[in-house]
Amino acid sequence: MRFDILTLFPAMFQGPLTESILKRAQQAGKIVIHLHDIRQWATDRHRTADDTPYGGGAGMVMKAEPLAAAIRAVRAADAHPGLTVLLTPDGELFTQSMARELATLPRLLLVCGHYEGIDERVRATLIDREISIGDYVLTGGELAAMVVVDAVARLVPGVIDSESIVEESHSDFLLEYPHYTRPAVWEGLEVPPVLLSGHHGEIARWRRAERLRRTMTRRPDLLARAAAAGVLTKADLALLAEWGWQPERQD
Ligand code: 6GU
Repeated sequence: MRFDILTLFPAMFQGPLTESILKRAQQAGKIVIHLHDIRQWATDRHRTADDTPYGGGAGMVMKAEPLAAAIRAVRAADAHPGLTVLLTPDGELFTQSMARELATLPRLLLVCGHYEGIDERVRATLIDREISIGDYVLTGGELAAMVVVDAVARLVPGVIDSESIVEESHSDFLLEYPHYTRPAVWEGLEVPPVLLSGHHGEIARWRRAERLRRTMTRRPDLLARAAAAGVLTKADLALLAEWGWQPERQD
């Protein structure tokens, strides 16, 4: 999968994209990430990419011409048109299911908004989708773009062990079970004995129960969605009923 990131601050991406799993994924050729400095497409002597807003008000707005030229040039650099996404706090909320959807694409162009935003006409004509990573405001779209690249890239086949994806938090609305590794007793705290039993059936049942318990106590909203999506088994529902949890009536 190919990622193109259009930004005024390409240096911000050093680190997150050059270490650990994303580094290995690029070395293995599973993903390719191209960074583009939008200023390269500014034509004036000062390489101006922003200007004051029409109508007045605080802050600066990213100018249409350099940004549009950048998007068009980068799109043309590859036969796959891909999807052009703007990172902006007023976009659609980014979720695991959106990450799964984006990971099926051959190509993603991420445009990092900055200052007060980008000229609305570029949004209207060149942006396919707008994404926010949460209900808080960042100084720019760069950190959000890194979050999106990370969450999407790890779902590209071959980037990480596919088994890790199956039971992870949010994959089926349930949070993860707790993890333990050696030593068996640490500062007087024991590992749950079932995990040392070697009994695979019991271990799987314990882990499922812990996922349900965690989701019920920490994220009741997710548990309700799991129930509505029909991913809870009869055994799950029986256990939850013992704990006093009941699915909301769907009428
Ligand atoms: Cl995508 N951009 C900015 N500036 N702030 C955000 C965001 C994006 N997502 C959440 N907050």
